[in-house]
Amino acid sequence: MVERVKTGIPGMDEILNGGIPRRNIVLLSGGPGTGKTIFGQQYLWNGLQMGEPGIYVALEEHPVQVRINMRQFGWDVRKYEQEGIFAIVDAFTSGIGEAAKRERYVVKDPTDVGLFIDVLKEAIRDTGAQRGVIDSVSTLYLTKPSVARSIVMMLKRVLSGLGVTSILVSQVSVTERGFGGPGVEHAADGIIRLDLDEINGELKRSLIVWKMRGTKHSMRRHPFEITDKGIIVHHDKVLRVTRTGFVEVPVGEG
Ligand SMILES: Nc1ncnc2c1ncn2[C@@H]1O[C@H](COP(=O)(O)OP(=O)(O)OP(=O)(O)O)[C@@H](O)[C@H]1O
Ligand SMILES: [Mg+2]
Repeated sequence: MVERVKTGIPGMDEILNGGIPRRNIVLLSGGPGTGKTIFGQQYLWNGLQMGEPGIYVALEEHPVQVRINMRQFGWDVRKYEQEGIFAIVDAFTSGIGEAAKRERYVVKDPTDVGLFIDVLKEAIRDTGAQRGVIDSVSTLYLTKPSVARSIVMMLKRVLSGLGVTSILVSQVSVTERGFGGPGVEHAADGIIRLDLDEINGELKRSLIVWKMRGTKHSMRRHPFEITDKGIIVHHDKVLRVTRTGFVEVPVGEG
């Protein structure tokens, strides 16, 4: 029996045959605005509702902004932070500014991987985190692609070793077909790719599970939406791009 962590995102666990196998490190890849951050935050919020502690590592946005953004979806994490079962690791401010002084977990120098790992471990131990999101992991190696694989392998050892089922947000450019580079793609246990395609003058969202070690999963491209309550995946529909546009067909209709 594979132990699974439910994402709790409507439609997503159906695609994953029940959820993400425990301790997997999942690369969540996509271009700008495809919904990676929202997906990750919704995964953590749903965990908290199921009594599973979590951490969010902010490398792209100010922790204050992260709390504000989450609250807009109805995900107010302050209570859980006070209870000590949720933490935001600040790898954004380098401790600069008044607001940063109120943060508990601050990576003073995000380019120092050793230091980054130390703060990460501390936050996991304190909260008892079972879920983790690093947003984004690309930021850790943007200027030094040659170390991308070793950084991801190190994160995998730490996160998986401490029992954390993790989402590593991976930024790819709009035109890139890959998921974040060969070293990283093979090191990850799973890859979920979020897409935004302009078809006939309309942006259409879809996602596909490219790989997920330890489980079978849907091999189809599913349409999804972002609403005021977060992401909703249409697990019962397939997005099929045709010569003239796109069609959404029910799963099962060829
Ligand atoms: N309340 C909402 N209702 C519908 N769509 C929304 C709402 N809030 C945000 N969005 C959509 O979500 C997008 C942002 O999603 P998100 O921040 O998760 O993207 P991302 O993949 O993390 O992008 P980046 O790589 O630039 O950080 C917005 O561009 C917008 O299209
Ligand atoms: Mg983002």
